[in-house]
Amino acid sequence: MNVALTYNLKKEDATKPEDYFSECDSAKTIDAIAAALGRRGHTVHSVDADQPALVSYFTKNRVDMVFNIAEGHRSRFRESEVPALLECLDIPYTGSNAFALALALNKAMTKRILRAENIPTPAFQVFETGDEALDPQLRFPLIVKPNLEGSAKGIRRENFITGPQELRSRVKELIRLYRQEVLVEEFIEGKELTVGILENGKATVLPVLEIDFSTARDSGEFFYSWRMKEFQGDRAQGLTPTFYCPARLDSSTERLVKDTALRTHRAIGCYDISRTDIRLDAHNVPYVLEINPLPGLDPKESNFPKMAYAAGMQYDDLIESVLLSAFQRRKINHG
Ligand SMILES: Nc1ncnc2c1ncn2[C@@H]1O[C@H](COP(=O)(O)OP(=O)(O)O)[C@@H](O)[C@H]1O
Ligand SMILES: [Mg+2]
Repeated sequence: MNVALTYNLKKEDATKPEDYFSECDSAKTIDAIAAALGRRGHTVHSVDADQPALVSYFTKNRVDMVFNIAEGHRSRFRESEVPALLECLDIPYTGSNAFALALALNKAMTKRILRAENIPTPAFQVFETGDEALDPQLRFPLIVKPNLEGSAKGIRRENFITGPQELRSRVKELIRLYRQEVLVEEFIEGKELTVGILENGKATVLPVLEIDFSTARDSGEFFYSWRMKEFQGDRAQGLTPTFYCPARLDSSTERLVKDTALRTHRAIGCYDISRTDIRLDAHNVPYVLEINPLPGLDPKESNFPKMAYAAGMQYDDLIESVLLSAFQRRKINHG
């Protein structure tokens, strides 16, 4: 196939906050995906989505499929920008559509859908100004996060909140820094899990990945904060969580966790690939934190490939499976 790989590149820019480009992809990841597709016999053109010439690229160059990993920059719906453009031009692309991407980027909106589907998600409240009264039903400790970010942007150890004073000041600070509403959630103390789903004809739930932060205690971080994600594996900083894939779960909990992720994938309307973040409570109830329809695909660093490897796939299998799933879907929808 003739494939265009659309991406937003991680940049060095000292004038921006340190986590500004965290969601974007490194040249290393972009090259790894292009090389994987190349080895499978596809012709790949890498296309920077952050350029005015994006529209003219697609009107001038006919491609069979777009492999989309672009996170976008510009709006509350930034991950939908490339898919919306491609829909207008009737060009097929991998992964979720503009609607599912916009929904998944909005954590509170996603949680409302999960609630309606009876999928457990931590109790929450949205703060627009920081002056709202705290819902008396919410129990400390709480965690606060910008409602429209990913890659742990704006999520620091200080976002773990044990009292009302602290809550108000951190919420106001996040609203000011990220210029958006803030989600306040009950903190679920148990195991951290993430669940990968791949579709190709039928949905496959990959072996569950457990991230154990107890081995990173020296760093002072104890959940997937921005620092933990950004510098994962850095021994000097003690940011060394331990990964278990498959996760250490009894078989009925494992089944429940996988089923919860699959129901989440379907409820949000994801296609081809997704990664659902889950925390288990003391009774082994899986609480869905969020779903990522554009999970990181760095062959060494990202969590999604770890799960694919545990399922016996090679990196190239993973990448091509996303492409073929999108191709299959297009064929069914267009006869
Ligand atoms: N309600 C919660 N209970 C416990 N930990 C949480 C909760 N919400 C977020 N976290 C921690 O913060 C991390 C990032 O939160 P998440 O909602 O997945 O946002 P992001 O889009 O930045 O990945 C999670 O992986 C988890 O470690
Ligand atoms: Mg997450």
